[in-house]
Amino acid sequence: MTDELFGELEARHKQILDALGTDVFVITSGAPGPGIGLFRQDSNFHYLTGFPEQGAVAVFDPTQDSERVLLFVKEKDRQDEVWQGFTIGVKQARATFPVDGVHNVQSLRSTLEERLKGRTVFYKSVHNHPQNSVLGKLLEQEGTEVRDSGPPFETLLDMRIIKSAWEVEQTRRAIAISTDGHHACMRAVGRHGFEYQLEAEFEYACKLQGVRHFAFGAIVAAGAHATCQHYVENNGPIADDDLVLIDAGARWNMYCADITRTFPASGTFSPVQRDLYEIVLASQKAGVEAVAPELTFHELNNIAAHVLIDGLKELGILHGNTDEIIDKNAYRDFWPGGLAHSVGLDVHDSTPKGFSGPDAERKLEPGMVITVEPGFYSQDFNHQIPETFKHIGIRVEDNVLVTENGHENLTAAVVKELADVEQMVSSGR
Ligand code: GLY
Ligand code: MN
Ligand code: MN
Repeated sequence: MTDELFGELEARHKQILDALGTDVFVITSGAPGPGIGLFRQDSNFHYLTGFPEQGAVAVFDPTQDSERVLLFVKEKDRQDEVWQGFTIGVKQARATFPVDGVHNVQSLRSTLEERLKGRTVFYKSVHNHPQNSVLGKLLEQEGTEVRDSGPPFETLLDMRIIKSAWEVEQTRRAIAISTDGHHACMRAVGRHGFEYQLEAEFEYACKLQGVRHFAFGAIVAAGAHATCQHYVENNGPIADDDLVLIDAGARWNMYCADITRTFPASGTFSPVQRDLYEIVLASQKAGVEAVAPELTFHELNNIAAHVLIDGLKELGILHGNTDEIIDKNAYRDFWPGGLAHSVGLDVHDSTPKGFSGPDAERKLEPGMVITVEPGFYSQDFNHQIPETFKHIGIRVEDNVLVTENGHENLTAAVVKELADVEQMVSSGR
């Protein structure tokens, strides 16, 4: 573990302990998945411990003189290691992680029984965690109250949404690698006939640079498939006159990139594709340019929506007063998603409800990393639009750091200007 991360973990612990008052917070690691597969730690557990294995538990108890932050881990077991390889074990965990005590997870019950009696404990169970039944019994004790929402959970989400310089560095690396992946796909489309081949190009470019996990399952959508925002089958053919939408991102040290580009398979946008792409791009650029502290997500959404709607009015796709169209959400048939979400350890980071509902009025703050991702999606049910504009999906998505004075577009190196996109695709054909 680097000194920087060690220091960050200590600071995070202090904030969680301060938020607890006299209560206790019990948090579990990720649980083992089915079959043989690469494990990825639960994002909250990773954020608070840095411990990478499954089956672990952490306890925060501000009322203790020492042992205020405890980690319970699986002890090293020869037989387990024969099959699963190296595990950290208690001794090495003690030497590595910035906690007050590390215990064998088998001692969870005996260590915590007295400590949790009669206390308010913040705890949410994780499906299939091996300690679920032990924790269940511990928390059923008379007088113990269990709460699955409240201060430590809120503090954790608020902390995660503001990135430190070290976290931004990890994000930059995820983005730099994903940039190569997106450009590789643009250059390779002329050689490939199927969506999954571009998915392979993206993953190949990332894995060659050491990526072990992706932010989410890549979306590689040709033609009408791109009208579905989270299309993941990626098994369709790519026709020469299709637009191809790729929404994909690598993880680096757990931090996600979330980038979308849309390009013509042939290397040349058709006139209709060009008109629509320019509208989405203008809306996206207006959104990126507006990112600055104090603006709410709702306000940012409407800045991009204004440009998108004005463009669609010029094409005769929407009619009426732009403000009224926004107020009535009358553009949502063509753009059902939100403009922005936070990105971090989770691709939709720290915003369980997304930036709709109460989160829409949240203000941007320095240190947030957010997406800006307007789109145009004309699905079958969009009866009112001319046939020529049907079955087209376009999204352009950047990841933007909110700074003291405005913003930095972290994904600025991924080409998106129409001529640059055409040139990049044509260069590989
Ligand atoms: N990749 C999912 C999203 O853009 O929200
Ligand atoms: Mn996104
Ligand atoms: Mn995305």
